[in-house]
Amino acid sequence: MSRILDGTAVSRQIKSEIAARAANLKRRGIQPGLAAVLVGDNPASAVYVKNKVQTCAELGIYSRRLDFPVAISTAELLDQIRILNHDDGIDGILVQLPLPSQIETRLILDAVDPQKDVDGFHPENVGRLCANLPGLRPCTPAGIMELLKRERIEVRGKEAVVIGRSDIVGKPLALLLLHESATVTICHSKTVDLPGVCRRADLLCAAMGRPGFVTPDFVKSGAVLVDVGINRISDELQAEKFFAGSARMDNFRARGSVLIGDVHPQCYAVVSAYTPVPGGVGPLTIAMLMANTVQAAMLRRGWF
Ligand code: GUN
Repeated sequence: MSRILDGTAVSRQIKSEIAARAANLKRRGIQPGLAAVLVGDNPASAVYVKNKVQTCAELGIYSRRLDFPVAISTAELLDQIRILNHDDGIDGILVQLPLPSQIETRLILDAVDPQKDVDGFHPENVGRLCANLPGLRPCTPAGIMELLKRERIEVRGKEAVVIGRSDIVGKPLALLLLHESATVTICHSKTVDLPGVCRRADLLCAAMGRPGFVTPDFVKSGAVLVDVGINRISDELQAEKFFAGSARMDNFRARGSVLIGDVHPQCYAVVSAYTPVPGGVGPLTIAMLMANTVQAAMLRRGWF
């Protein structure tokens, strides 16, 4: 039997710890504050930002949501970021991605004060991660490391394969695993014999955003599987391909769509442990954003 790595439960645990830390800070007259910047009306981004703001409220963290029109210019958005950099009530600045195509995303991310960069996307924090120096780490990879630690999954000395080389997940996750002494391989769309490389993995992390792409021929028996993908599918034939005969098909019929990760559910029978979708890695991202906001509040006051 394979073990389900319950991200929802671990996220709840982390959030209760963060709420306690926020309450402690409040007794010293400090309330950590997060600014969530949303540009345009991408529905998925709107849901993510709403959840982030709501979680702040649950944990006693101040939050401010800033909505800007889809046509805002890079210069105008830069001005807004600079205002937030100088706002003493704001410890963390989150710019929800993706930004509209006319915006120069790199310029915006580079403009965020590195001490308020709760996404860990500023080059200073990327450099700190690379050099294994203290700093704010990207939330999803940090959440995966926290999950592995709390579930007592040994990383040291293990063969870890990360599929996907994004700046948000693949690259930072590979570095975090390396710093915990895993032997790390990063795979991508040009990797030759991808299934063969993945079969070497004791720890296989799928983060390329392709529904059900990782099939049992990618997986070594007994490996640990971390699925970072969150893909919504609304095609019935495609849903049947992944969920035929399972209760998830009833779910699809009721709602007209269903979520699937980058891992085909058939892999679950082969592995020793896996993160489900939904309820695996997803909930940890928000929990780590809250942790980063509290950390940023302390950093800015020189308490680290
Ligand atoms: N869009 C998808 N993932 C993320 C994330 O981790 N942070 C931000 N800001 N935007 C995202």
